[in-house]
Amino acid sequence: MAPLRDFIILLIVCGSFFTQGEAVCGYESCHATKPNMVNIHLVPHSHDDVGWLKTVDQYFYGHKNNIQHAGVQYIIDTVISELIKNPDRRFIQVETSFFSKWWSEQSETAKEIVKKLVNEGRLQFTNGAWSMNDEAAVNYQSVIDQFSVGLKFLDDTFGVCGRPKVGWQIDPFGHSREQASLYAQMGYDAEFFSRMDHNDKGRRMNDRALEMVWDASESLDIKLFTGLLYTFYWDTPGFCFDVHCSDDPIIDGDSYDNNVQSRVDAFIAYAAEVVEKFRTNHIMIPMGGDFHYEDAEVNFKNMDKLIKYVNERQSSGSRYNIIYSTPACYLNSVHQSVQSYPNKTQDFFPYGSNTNSFWTGYFSSRPTQKRFERDGNHILQVAKELSVFADLNSEEQKEKLNYLRQIMGVMQHHDAITGTEKQAVSDDYDRLLCDAIVGGHSVARDALRKVTPLPTGEFQSCLNLNISECAFTKDNADNLVVTLYNPLAHTTKQYVRLPVKNENYQVTDDKGRVVASELVPVSQQIIDLEFRETDTQYELVFKATVDKIANYYVKKVESRNAAQPIKAVKSVSGETREDGETVVQTSTIKLTIDNNSGLLKTVEMNGVSENIEQTFGIYKTYDSGAYLFRQYNQEGATFLDSGVEFTVYEGSQVKEIHQVFNEYLSQVIRLYEGKNTVEFEWLVGPLPRDETYGTEVITVFSSEIESNGVFYTDANGRELLKRRKDQREDFTSELAVQPTAGNYYPITSRIALQDSKKRLAILNDRAQGGSSMKDGQIELMLHRRLVRDDGLGVDEVLNEEKYGQPLIARGKVFLVLNSAEESTSAEREWEKEHHLPLYKFFSKNSGSTSSPAKSVPSFEDFPKSVHLLTLEPFNDKEVLLRVENFMDQTEGRVVSFNIRPLFDYLNGAEIRETTLDGNLPLSDMKRLKFHTEGSGVRGSEPEYYTSAHTPLEVDASHEDSDFAVTLTPMQIRTFIVKTN
Ligand SMILES: *[C@@H]1O[C@H](CO)[C@@H](O)[C@H](O)[C@H]1NC(C)=O
Ligand SMILES: *[C@@H]1O[C@H](CO)[C@@H](O)[C@H](O)[C@H]1NC(C)=O
Ligand SMILES: [Zn+2]
Repeated sequence: MAPLRDFIILLIVCGSFFTQGEAVCGYESCHATKPNMVNIHLVPHSHDDVGWLKTVDQYFYGHKNNIQHAGVQYIIDTVISELIKNPDRRFIQVETSFFSKWWSEQSETAKEIVKKLVNEGRLQFTNGAWSMNDEAAVNYQSVIDQFSVGLKFLDDTFGVCGRPKVGWQIDPFGHSREQASLYAQMGYDAEFFSRMDHNDKGRRMNDRALEMVWDASESLDIKLFTGLLYTFYWDTPGFCFDVHCSDDPIIDGDSYDNNVQSRVDAFIAYAAEVVEKFRTNHIMIPMGGDFHYEDAEVNFKNMDKLIKYVNERQSSGSRYNIIYSTPACYLNSVHQSVQSYPNKTQDFFPYGSNTNSFWTGYFSSRPTQKRFERDGNHILQVAKELSVFADLNSEEQKEKLNYLRQIMGVMQHHDAITGTEKQAVSDDYDRLLCDAIVGGHSVARDALRKVTPLPTGEFQSCLNLNISECAFTKDNADNLVVTLYNPLAHTTKQYVRLPVKNENYQVTDDKGRVVASELVPVSQQIIDLEFRETDTQYELVFKATVDKIANYYVKKVESRNAAQPIKAVKSVSGETREDGETVVQTSTIKLTIDNNSGLLKTVEMNGVSENIEQTFGIYKTYDSGAYLFRQYNQEGATFLDSGVEFTVYEGSQVKEIHQVFNEYLSQVIRLYEGKNTVEFEWLVGPLPRDETYGTEVITVFSSEIESNGVFYTDANGRELLKRRKDQREDFTSELAVQPTAGNYYPITSRIALQDSKKRLAILNDRAQGGSSMKDGQIELMLHRRLVRDDGLGVDEVLNEEKYGQPLIARGKVFLVLNSAEESTSAEREWEKEHHLPLYKFFSKNSGSTSSPAKSVPSFEDFPKSVHLLTLEPFNDKEVLLRVENFMDQTEGRVVSFNIRPLFDYLNGAEIRETTLDGNLPLSDMKRLKFHTEGSGVRGSEPEYYTSAHTPLEVDASHEDSDFAVTLTPMQIRTFIVKTN
């Protein structure tokens, strides 16, 4: 099949294609509509998953069609050929990862043709991010990044006509308020999706409320028009004209089978049904599905006919007008119609597709993949910042950094970070991310050689420190340099742990001062892991203080001056139990462990004391799957609440309680001197599984806090949303069949509850599902091993194996107990530290040092609540800077600071402010404004938003005071610094 090439030849021969009228893209390129008719906007599209049943490349190339018939390269090929044939036709291209790969294989002539289609609004990029990201498990930083990558490709390739105007999140399984907020901050006019809780949708159908104005932030004044597709994103029932479908084509010839009459009747009947549910005389009808348009002629030929015959009826009085359109053109018509819409203030989690199907399992599916994605973000941010400081600009370095950006874009896809892909595809994501991380490490190493005194340092990293494994320290940690990189703006104090043998070490800092350190035994369950490629049984622990970069030197010494291994001070197992409690404390936190149960009993910190029992629980489930968490007969979890063996280790800096719950569940509870949080490092697996029941493991914290059914969960690591058990914002959910699954929410960074006196917050290290099923109680799902598929397409049981055995996962959660009157700002700071902790690089200490070739700036003069969200190379001689006030309106205030010092450090020539994604000058942003019902301000003319503040735009000749930046709570501002 080479239709595009044929067409190109034809066009060049005829010379006709390039001589048509002047280019207009955007809303001006939309087809005219008819004011007194029902305007049907037919939206041709293809939903192309960036991996799911097949890998990304298998989808692109049409490989392994026995698994699923799908080949994205052919889709784009044939769509372009079909668009050329008829200037009325439209198509939206959504996933930029696929498009950019296709583009890189095109001839110059083909590229010119595509540019013309884009410039005339015939091919419209929609959404435009690298992938169509999930909205539950993703962190906002990675969403912003993956939009920036996609939109930058489109901007570099097509300029302003390539810029998408609407969000198109048609497949993700629930929708987050933060995503809507980010869309608005990127200048998008609206968002459309197609999955909503069935009870919510039912109500909205009746109220003509499928479209709404989303109040997308509590701290920021941000609104986004949001629409639910009437049926789903698939074609109108009966009108799928794709080679994958078998609906009747439109037969208009001289044939006994001529069906024009009946087909047009049926289509108009459907349109009549749809228009009833919307507020204007415009309706959007998507025409497409998963990997549709592989032979696009079939689709377009039939749509041409459908349009022709539906419109022909107007001459005999029909009031239906049908046009080729796009989501943006539909939106523009709706905007021109000046209506008002209900508002929406919460989010669209959880997604229940029926009373027995809540899509809350994927919040936790594939726990180690969800963690690995966070590791990818960690090195990405480190490599970006370091590339700027060291001014790296070789092609190879740029490519490696770009590859890591792109693979992180792939990981955000709604079948990647969600864990809803087949095992072989998950393995492929692992492979891609691993390669990309190795590239990121190499970029970081190149930079570190320039910005540290170690021009020949190895700067190796260890990805398995979570099981205390590190090739670099395995045999010998003598004469080692640990280089710590802090991706955050402010100086941080964190404890560093290195896997070592039982030997004596001394740690010194950059200035040669001895730093207190101690040797802590690794838990027996970690030592016993068969796949652990090391026999080290201790970790050397010391506290590091790091502004941006610091080096710590480790050397082996005689035992007299050095750290001694911490010995167990107490060990309680089956036979030796006595009543009473064991106290473990630092200068700021006191814990007690119940001697009998072996469980945590009380926590005292921040002047508050509370009975908090922590344990694990198990849901035995029958037909849960990768997507669904589905309880069996409304049964709750069984808690492991007795007979826990524990051993206490008390050092001067770290205290640990090693607990063993059963053969597959163990944990270390850890306190560090001076750190105001309790760490729980869990180890879960291999999970048992019988023929009948799956095993889903939770960690549970039970307190006596009178939370009264209310708890708080974060949206993508940013704002908190208030949840009320068994309730939804504006509809009634039927929860009788799935009382727990229907109360699960995505926890990307934090879940909390409180009463008038006390507040308990639990923070995590990867996305998980969680809830509060009883007052004072918080649960998080850690791991799942299932026996059945949930019938939603993946067609495989979630039963992960690694190293030839059921998956073992390790991770951390953190507890913060505080007075309810205290600000929650400390939780915010923890969130940042957990998301972007110190990155550890290891080198041999060769003894030779030289002064660094490049300096690293300090960001200490940024106000405390300002996060260095992004600092990265943009175009040549351009750097992107993104700063965020990460406190919300209850925690923080408006802050101002000056970025002239940073500008000068970067050798800046000028600076301009852009939309959140970095690609559109903020002064050019103009968003469509829609009104909410009852707001009383509905005018008769369409209205717009522009930037609420004056965009910063200055050059080096300006006064220092012109470089002042103000951030309101939760505000993010993005700048491009052009450098000399
Ligand atoms: C949203 O609608 C509710 C109910 O009509 C109303 O109480 C609330 O003030 C509205 N919020 C906004 C921001 O318009
Ligand atoms: C440790 O972390 C790596 C990288 O995220 C991950 O691949 C691995 O599965 C983790 N191991 C465990 C036991 O969780
Ligand atoms: Zn999808």
